[in-house]
Amino acid sequence: MLSQTLLAASRSAKMRGMITGVPLTRRVVDRFVAGDNLDQASLIISDLVDQGLAVTVDRLGEDTQDAADAAATRDAYLEMLKRFADLGIAHRTEVSLKLSALGQKLPQDAEKIALENAIAIAEAARDAGTTMTLDMEDHTTVDATLGALRELRGEFPWVGVAIQAALFRTEGDVADLATAGSRVRLVKGAYMEPASVAHQEKHEVDKAYVRAMKTLMRSSAYPMIASHDQRMIDIAHALIAETGRAHDAQEFQMLHGIRTTEQHRLVDGGDTMRVYVPFGDDWYGYFMRRLAERPANVMFFLNSLVKR
Ligand code: FDA
Repeated sequence: MLSQTLLAASRSAKMRGMITGVPLTRRVVDRFVAGDNLDQASLIISDLVDQGLAVTVDRLGEDTQDAADAAATRDAYLEMLKRFADLGIAHRTEVSLKLSALGQKLPQDAEKIALENAIAIAEAARDAGTTMTLDMEDHTTVDATLGALRELRGEFPWVGVAIQAALFRTEGDVADLATAGSRVRLVKGAYMEPASVAHQEKHEVDKAYVRAMKTLMRSSAYPMIASHDQRMIDIAHALIAETGRAHDAQEFQMLHGIRTTEQHRLVDGGDTMRVYVPFGDDWYGYFMRRLAERPANVMFFLNSLVKR
């Protein structure tokens, strides 16, 4: 119930004004977000790379309504990729992008503009010597995102995509995507979705996650197991043992600031562990989805406001 309320609030302009207007919110946001700008984020990312972690970087922003804003987001990614190359960390630092930040929701030529912007970023990623992955937003965007993925993979076969176990359609999508080298980031799903398209019970989502993981692990795809759930990580390891997959034939992924001890434990065990690092000042939607995932985060947030 609390999660549903927080997810509804993540789309409310009124709540956005109230939450972002509280100066102390920032302290809690900092647990999940690596600063407002590229300079701040680069320090954190370089440090993570030094610690043996791989990284994927998200420049926060979504649902852009203006073509100039979408172009500015694209340019921010181009600058970011150049910076990572200059810092010598691009081989361990890829980028994650939301097509809605690149134009997918514009009133005109939305899919064309989003794709052109994504192509420009893919070219910059290739030039920097790294890769990129498309985030998946709510269920209304899945067809367009998978369509863009198909276009991108024609020239950039290493472009990855996030797939949400919560959606009923995912079993079919995962079967389609389970091809050689296909980079698939398997997530549970962070959006509030109707019962007509998505599992509503956590145990149903977990079962769907395991089914998708089995399909990917038993294929020649490159699964990216993006979960903090220890049971999912243990099942992934069991599947790796069962299929005889090499350590570098898949990777584990977690969000910045969550289960950092486990992140290092996976690296120490020889796995690739990639941390999803968001940065930027448009953190509201991302932050609210993190609160919704774990009620304890809400208590942490409220306590920080009370203990001022
Ligand atoms: P689950 O929610 O069951 O949590 C398992 C345990 O992990 C919890 O008990 C807790 O210990 C810990 N945990 C989980 N979330 C936490 C939090 N916010 N704070 C503190 N602890 C927490 N979603 C989406 O719809 N589209 C996308 O593109 C992406 N992209 C993405 C990339 C990466 C790298 C990750 C790790 C996740 C995403 N997600 C996403 C988010 C994903 O869908 C999901 O909402 C979260 O990962 C939480 O689900 P878990 O699998 O961690 O399990």
